[in-house]
Amino acid sequence: MTTMLKTTDLRETMRQHATAVAVITTRDARGQASGFCATSLASVSLRPPIVSFAVALDSTSGRAWENAACGLIHLLRSDQADVAAAFATSGPTKFTDVGWSPGPAQQPLIDGVLAWLLVGTRTRLVLGDHRLIVADVLSCVVTPGLGPLIHHNGTYGGVCSPMDTTS
Ligand SMILES: Cc1cc2nc3c(=O)[nH]c(=O)nc-3n(C[C@H](O)[C@H](O)[C@H](O)COP(=O)(O)O)c2cc1C
Repeated sequence: MTTMLKTTDLRETMRQHATAVAVITTRDARGQASGFCATSLASVSLRPPIVSFAVALDSTSGRAWENAACGLIHLLRSDQADVAAAFATSGPTKFTDVGWSPGPAQQPLIDGVLAWLLVGTRTRLVLGDHRLIVADVLSCVVTPGLGPLIHHNGTYGGVCSPMDTTS
């Protein structure tokens, strides 16, 4: 099916879709650390545990995920907008500006995140200008504390308190 939809209209509409912010890391075929800021993370299945995310084909991360067998998905805390910004910028400085250590399977594990998931690639599918990665969740860890970092309409923030219906 073809559409006359304008890219700018879709972009403006999707800016209203508030999402938690993730950073997804892996190692490329040469073992170089790679990582990008992502809001395309989705939970797909509980049994078996499967998630998905989309990575731009023309990015450094997109090239790394052409072959990557596993990676780490980090859910950022509300005070980690600087980490999101570092990983939303292409270039070599992201792993020097942000604290991390080798995690499970030697993938870069970012310090101080709300939660992380170790994932193994199940399926790759090129859809338009992105590659959809469907991945098995191999392990996951939550560290209670500050809530998630949220992205909405081009800005970062925390979760607002739920509406008080008692008064
Ligand atoms: C809030 C936010 C969400 C983003 N989500 C995605 C995403 O889901 N997939 C993607 O490929 N790029 C996404 N990007 C863009 C990448 O983070 C950005 O292009 C990054 O520089 C890619 O890094 P790389 O070139 O080192 O791979 C997002 C950027 C921001 C600011």
